[in-house]
Amino acid sequence: MKALVLAGGTGSRLRPFTYSGAKQLLPIANKPVLFYALESLAAAGVRDVGIVVGTHGPAIRELTGDGGGFGLRITYLPQPRPLGLAHAVLIARDFLGDDDFLLYLGDNYVPGGVTELTRGASAPAAARLLVTRVPDPSAFGVAEVDAGGRVLALEEKPDTPRSDLALIGVYAFSPAVHEAVRAIGPSARGELEITHAIQWLIDQGHPVHATVTTRPWRDTGSVEDMLEVNREVLDVLEGGVEGKVDPGSTLVGRVRVAEGAVVRGSRVVGPVVIGAGAVVSNSSVGPYTSIGEDCRVADSAIEYSVLLRGARIEGAVRIEASLIGRGAVVGQAPHPPQAHRLVLGDHSKVHLTS
Ligand code: TTP
Repeated sequence: MKALVLAGGTGSRLRPFTYSGAKQLLPIANKPVLFYALESLAAAGVRDVGIVVGTHGPAIRELTGDGGGFGLRITYLPQPRPLGLAHAVLIARDFLGDDDFLLYLGDNYVPGGVTELTRGASAPAAARLLVTRVPDPSAFGVAEVDAGGRVLALEEKPDTPRSDLALIGVYAFSPAVHEAVRAIGPSARGELEITHAIQWLIDQGHPVHATVTTRPWRDTGSVEDMLEVNREVLDVLEGGVEGKVDPGSTLVGRVRVAEGAVVRGSRVVGPVVIGAGAVVSNSSVGPYTSIGEDCRVADSAIEYSVLLRGARIEGAVRIEASLIGRGAVVGQAPHPPQAHRLVLGDHSKVHLTS
């Protein structure tokens, strides 16, 4: 079985980060979210993986390489424009050949692996889906499933959902899907929707099955989701100090300090990860915080946040629920401020308390 991992897209909900990088490379506990998907495919026995990439393809390729580090063989499939999940399947036709394959959304975090989809099913199906009960299905693809697990109908982000079963971002397909993605037309939002392709399969009489799972799956498509997934992953992370922690610092709970990181005169309340080359001084960090490589945190307090590589936080009284980009600087004004001074990229967000 092959896998097709989708790592293109627009990523409009994660602007401004997606102007300068791929959302699938944003870190969860200091590791790109895409790597969790690749590791889980390798663990499920998949070897041949096609990664669909868009404008940030070169950065993804640079980091992920030929896949050897994951025990995979990776082929990159450039998608000229993000025209939808079914469009990504369309352009991958030659790579996929006549094999069964998993379609894996590269910004989705699916703890516990995907073996129930790679192991095969008792009855053959054109598509096998994982679904989970959610309180507000209108934000998802929603499946109507009979008692035997057969999918009767699918809707994409319905106003009045017919069930509370949302589609998780990993699907198993037989080659029958290739005819479906060729047959459908663009949706109202101009995309070739994978839900429409699956609905086409159902309408043509192909069996489509769903398994209900209770796993805490997540899409990392927004800042709020990123922070939550980061919290969940940190929650099960092992601590360990490989860097330097001075006697004036206190570490509470599970804290991982990478080799080459320095903690001075600070209190760090886990779970927290501090990346290589980062320096934390005279600060309070955590819980649920990831400090990326080469970051500086000085004279500050930060909680439930993610700092990307090289970010600097200096003299910030209290920062929480924040995602701070590569090389971004948060600092004190040189004189008591009469006004806030901001240099913000397009679509940045700042919440001022006074
Ligand atoms: P989405 O998160 O549904 O779409 P998006 O990336 O356009 O994000 P937004 O809604 O914030 O603008 O995409 C799910 C995954 O599929 C994600 O990893 C991006 C990828 N994708 C492609 O590779 N090609 C595409 O044409 C689309 C739409 C998404």
